[in-house]
Amino acid sequence: MKISVNVQLLNALVYYRIKKDWVRIMRQGLFITFEGVDGCGKTTQIKLLDEYLRNLGCETLLTREPGAKGLGEKLREILLNYDGNVSSKCESFLFLADRAQHVDCIIKPALEKGIFVLCDRHTDSTIAYQGYGRGVDIEELKNLNNLATGELKPDLTIVFDVDIETSAKRVGKEKDRMESAGIEFFERVRKGFLEIAKQEPERVKVIDSTQSIESIHEKVLELVNGLK
Ligand code: TYD
Repeated sequence: MKISVNVQLLNALVYYRIKKDWVRIMRQGLFITFEGVDGCGKTTQIKLLDEYLRNLGCETLLTREPGAKGLGEKLREILLNYDGNVSSKCESFLFLADRAQHVDCIIKPALEKGIFVLCDRHTDSTIAYQGYGRGVDIEELKNLNNLATGELKPDLTIVFDVDIETSAKRVGKEKDRMESAGIEFFERVRKGFLEIAKQEPERVKVIDSTQSIESIHEKVLELVNGLK
C-alpha cells in the first residue's frame, strides 16, 4: 500500500514537471519535421505525436509537403500524378515552389502564434530525393532550400529509417509517380537521409522504423521531450 502511494506521488511529480516545461515552450512554438523514404511509417507517428501534444494542451498544426492547402494542393497533384515526362530540375523547382508558399503562408504564421508545427516532409526530402536520388546538385539545392524557407530551420527533424524491401511492401502495388521510381533510386534516397543525419547530428535524429509502432512512438517522445 505504502509503495503504491509513493509511486502515485512520483508519477504526479513527473507529470507536473513535464507539464511545467511544456507550458514554458508552448509560448514560442516548435517546428518539427518528419522524413524518410515512402512507406517508412512517419505519417502514423506524426498523428500519435499530435495526439500526445494536444492532450498536454498544446495547439498543433499537422501539415505536409507537397501540398498543404490551396495552391499547394494543385502542385501536389502535378508532382504525384502528372503522367508525362518531368525533368529532375523541373521537379525540384515544383517541390521548392510548394515549400516557399507553405513556409510563408502557413508555417511561419503558425509559429508566430506559438503553435507547434508538425510537418510531414520538408527540406531534407528535396536533398534526399532530388539530390541523392535524381542527381541534382546538392549544394545548389541547399541554397534553393534556404531561399524557399527564408532560412527557417526545424527545431528537430526525425528520419524514420527502414530498409527498402520493407518500405516497398508497405507502399503496396498502387504507386504514384514518385513511388514508381525503382529500388536503386530509393536505396540512394535512404542513403541520402542517413548522410544528412550524419552531417547535422544536432538537428536530425534517426529512428529505426522497423520496430513496433509503440516503441517508435516512445523514441519520438524522448526526442521531443529532449527539446525543452
Ligand atoms: P506522399 O504521398 O506525401 O508520400 P509520403 O506519405 O511517403 O510522404 O508523397 C510525397 C512524395 O514526394 C514522396 O514520394 C516524396 C516526394 N518528395 C520529393 O521527392 N521531394 C520533396 O521535396 C518532397 C517534399 C517530397
